[in-house]
Amino acid sequence: MNIKIVADYETLSREAAAIVASKIAAGPKTVLALPTGNTPIGMYKQLVRLYREGKVDLSRVWVFALDEYARVPASDQHSFSYFLRQHLIDPAGLGPRFDHLRGEAACFETECRRYEQAIAARGGLDLAVLGLGVNGHIAFNEPGTSFDSRTHVVDLAASTREANASYFPDGFKIPAQGLTMGIGTILAAKEILLLASGKSKAAIMAHIMAAEPAPAIPASALKTHPRTTWLLDQEAAAGC
Ligand code: PGA
Repeated sequence: MNIKIVADYETLSREAAAIVASKIAAGPKTVLALPTGNTPIGMYKQLVRLYREGKVDLSRVWVFALDEYARVPASDQHSFSYFLRQHLIDPAGLGPRFDHLRGEAACFETECRRYEQAIAARGGLDLAVLGLGVNGHIAFNEPGTSFDSRTHVVDLAASTREANASYFPDGFKIPAQGLTMGIGTILAAKEILLLASGKSKAAIMAHIMAAEPAPAIPASALKTHPRTTWLLDQEAAAGC
């Protein structure tokens, strides 16, 4: 396993952006899968900086969002696609080459099939960047998800809804379902970069490192992928 431990969140963010940028430098038509969450915000800031300084050419890069809330339209500020537009897609001029799952789709199964076909039509994912849920989820693949799952609809775990509650105003009903690339979709990426930062990820990271790959811990699936980089800061790596 390729585990890289860095001092702090700032270093993790710079390092993650450097990994993404070097992948793009090696293949300008890179197809990325990108996450929502607190963890990647610093990486997005760094990527936007590199773009503004002319240090990364994003003109042929394609981005697919990893997941989305069900029944939350893209125009809603709580949607994951809105988040990605705000933090990366719009400031980096990626709008024409950005695809995401439609939470407002009339038929989720049709939308999930469309998404798999759209990824395949781009030649598959070159690099999937992932955050890590406190319960070990990757994208919205909650514990118990099969490793060969493709893009699908999920019931969100209570811990996921709780962890995401801070994004919603008080009294707002947090979505109970999501749409997500499957673990199989993610494992089909040529390369994977998982980011974990902060004390809240230390227990699950220790668990992943000690465990055999099994659906009870979705992120453990990445141990079966030959080109996964685990990029952790010292707090997240404390129990490893
Ligand atoms: P976080 O979320 O980056 O906000 O910790 C990660 C996740 O739940 O996948």
